[in-house]
Amino acid sequence: MASRGGLRLVVLISGRGSNLGALITACEAGLAIEIAAAISNRPGAAGLQTAQQHGIACEVIDHQDYPGREAFDAALLACIEAYQPRLVVLAGFMRILGKSIVQHLAGRSINIHPSLLPAYTGFNTHERVLAAGDPEHGASIHFVSDELDGGPVISQVRMPVLAQDTAETLAARLLPLEHRLMVATVELFSEHSVEMRDDVIHVDKKPLPTPLVLDADGRLCRTADQ
Ligand code: GRF
Repeated sequence: MASRGGLRLVVLISGRGSNLGALITACEAGLAIEIAAAISNRPGAAGLQTAQQHGIACEVIDHQDYPGREAFDAALLACIEAYQPRLVVLAGFMRILGKSIVQHLAGRSINIHPSLLPAYTGFNTHERVLAAGDPEHGASIHFVSDELDGGPVISQVRMPVLAQDTAETLAARLLPLEHRLMVATVELFSEHSVEMRDDVIHVDKKPLPTPLVLDADGRLCRTADQ
């Protein structure tokens, strides 16, 4: 059972749910979080099975059952709030949320995105990194705003792009790093105050002008200039 009586989370997914799986594993290994529910907009999302196997409440709010985004967002928000989470984690959640739900969840919803934001918002990030010839790739976790992949970035993990890389090898190498970033960032929320003030992230009341970076030991560090 993914419950340690710590930071109460709701995780939103649309598919595989490997980031959700990483949080479940970390919780079962002692991370002070409680995964109150996994909510998917797709009934067949594989991640729901993972959640169910670990005794986590599963909910489906299928976007196809609603006439438009507003109705879907309202149902999703009601479902989220029923679990009273302190943090809502979008982990491979493939729906864009409208202004109203984003405002309701402001400062307590985060999303993981497979690029070094602000570069490459949206889809096909691995392909675009290769096409641009970038030497580096990575993933970011940011506060959710009403701009796609656009909210303030809390944390990042970086990795080199190798000469022989394809989109597939980049994705495969990045995914385990995403999992570590996800766990470390949720741990940050569980142990520290992470809040937005005047559009600037503050960790324990100290401004964070640039994102925290995951080091080789899986710890989030401030960059040297901070
Ligand atoms: C991850 O690459 C994440 O960065 C992106 O969607 C993918 C979700 O994977 N937003 P999973 O469902 O957690 O396995």
